[in-house]
Amino acid sequence: MATRILGIAGSPRAGGNTEILVRTTLDAAAAEGAETRVFCLSSNHVEPCRACHECGKDVQWCIIDDDMTNGLYADFMWADAIVFGTPVYMGGLSAQLKAVIDRTRPLWRRDNALQNKFASAIAVGDGQWGGQELARQSVLHFCMNHGMVLLEPACLPYGSWEVCGRAAEPGDVRDDEFAMRAARGLGQRLARTELVVASR
Ligand SMILES: Cc1cc2nc3c(=O)[nH]c(=O)nc-3n(C[C@H](O)[C@H](O)[C@H](O)COP(=O)(O)O)c2cc1C
Repeated sequence: MATRILGIAGSPRAGGNTEILVRTTLDAAAAEGAETRVFCLSSNHVEPCRACHECGKDVQWCIIDDDMTNGLYADFMWADAIVFGTPVYMGGLSAQLKAVIDRTRPLWRRDNALQNKFASAIAVGDGQWGGQELARQSVLHFCMNHGMVLLEPACLPYGSWEVCGRAAEPGDVRDDEFAMRAARGLGQRLARTELVVASR
């Protein structure tokens, strides 16, 4: 059975560097037989949590009528693995991705629906030390909060590399060979996860 991988691109910029790295990961996974879906925050609207606590009551997911309630919750349920991509904004993750993260609370309340799904994070910023690692770790800490299993590329001879890109204008990340290589390695590793689990 093919691994199902959901990629979330957390930039408001369509076709930008975050989306390129997320799609590169998904394409590498698809080449290994995985099923993939992508959710871009440039073309989908996700509002921040309103702290109304209605998700603890008798609603399926959330009372907010947006692209999270009308699609992304179902994509989260569908996926075996989720790749969260963010541009670095002011040294951290984007507000667009944070809105998605806060809105996952109903999944938590639904028997920890994300527990034991695989998770990885991608960050891209303009600076050489612009906050990519912290942005990624913030996302991964949220994944741990859900009991997800963190997975890194392990694509290089000396072990794992974080998928951190350095790029300013849309498309620049294609010139960051290490980020592109790590993204492809992550996709391959995620796609092969099913085989690892099945062989235990
Ligand atoms: C509001 C804002 C804040 C930013 N803050 C940082 C930052 O702290 N560190 C950094 O390296 N790049 C920063 N950048 C640059 C973006 O991370 C960079 O252009 C990235 O490639 C954007 O990804 P995208 O093409 O997917 O939108 C910032 C950009 C914006 C718009």
